[in-house]
Amino acid sequence: MSHDQTPAPGAEENGTTTPQPESTHQIGVGPWDGPWPEGDHWDEDLLREGDRRNVLDHYRYWKHDAIVAELDTRRHAFHVAIENWQHDLNIGTVVRTANAFLAAEVHIIGRRRWNRRGAMVTDKYQHVRHHSTVEEFVQWARGEGLAIIGIDIFPDSQQLETYDLPRECVLVFGQEGPGLSEEVHRAAGATLSIEQFGSTRSINAASAAGIAMHAWIRRHVFGQHP
Ligand SMILES: C[S@@+](CC[C@H](N)C(=O)[O-])C[C@H]1O[C@@H](n2cnc3c(N)ncnc32)[C@H](O)[C@@H]1O
Repeated sequence: MSHDQTPAPGAEENGTTTPQPESTHQIGVGPWDGPWPEGDHWDEDLLREGDRRNVLDHYRYWKHDAIVAELDTRRHAFHVAIENWQHDLNIGTVVRTANAFLAAEVHIIGRRRWNRRGAMVTDKYQHVRHHSTVEEFVQWARGEGLAIIGIDIFPDSQQLETYDLPRECVLVFGQEGPGLSEEVHRAAGATLSIEQFGSTRSINAASAAGIAMHAWIRRHVFGQHP
């Protein structure tokens, strides 16, 4: 399948025009207008009924599995993990950001159940793996050859802003209240803190995760050195 098969919205192709959003209040596109395109990745139900999913226009009318398969061909080398001992509401947002920055996988450490609301369905396009214990997670990460990088404010934390993040790594976040567990702290090759300037002790885990993932993107996609 090729990216070029999907016309940009409004572009003329084979005499047809890809439908435009029908209203400013409804995302997505209506039924396909004109002869249906050929290719295994097109979803007949979406072509017939329209595609209201929260996906890039490039993926309009694509089968769900085809989108995931295409993302899998270009996922980044970093993983993210978050501890989940008390049903942290940040997890959905972390998953959504991991999808946006194309993390290899998201890891939930602790309870299996997490509140999907903030994920805005992005978890359907993201590989999410569960580890019941920190020990299980650490074993898995070491087996994969990933550097475990804890993100939290510890006395021995180094500054994220000046730390040269390794390419193959898993960035681990704690939860509201307790923060990163001592077990993860001990297992991590480094723990990094995000410099703050105001009066609050910390930012929320989802914000910290967005900043840390973007630091990896700047380092390894844009080649910026700290
Ligand atoms: C609200 S914080 C937990 C409380 C925090 N340990 C404290 O001492 O106040 C939740 C998570 O967000 C992340 N976090 C928040 N602020 C951070 C910062 N300035 N630097 C690095 N991580 C941060 C960490 O992963 C942390 O475990």
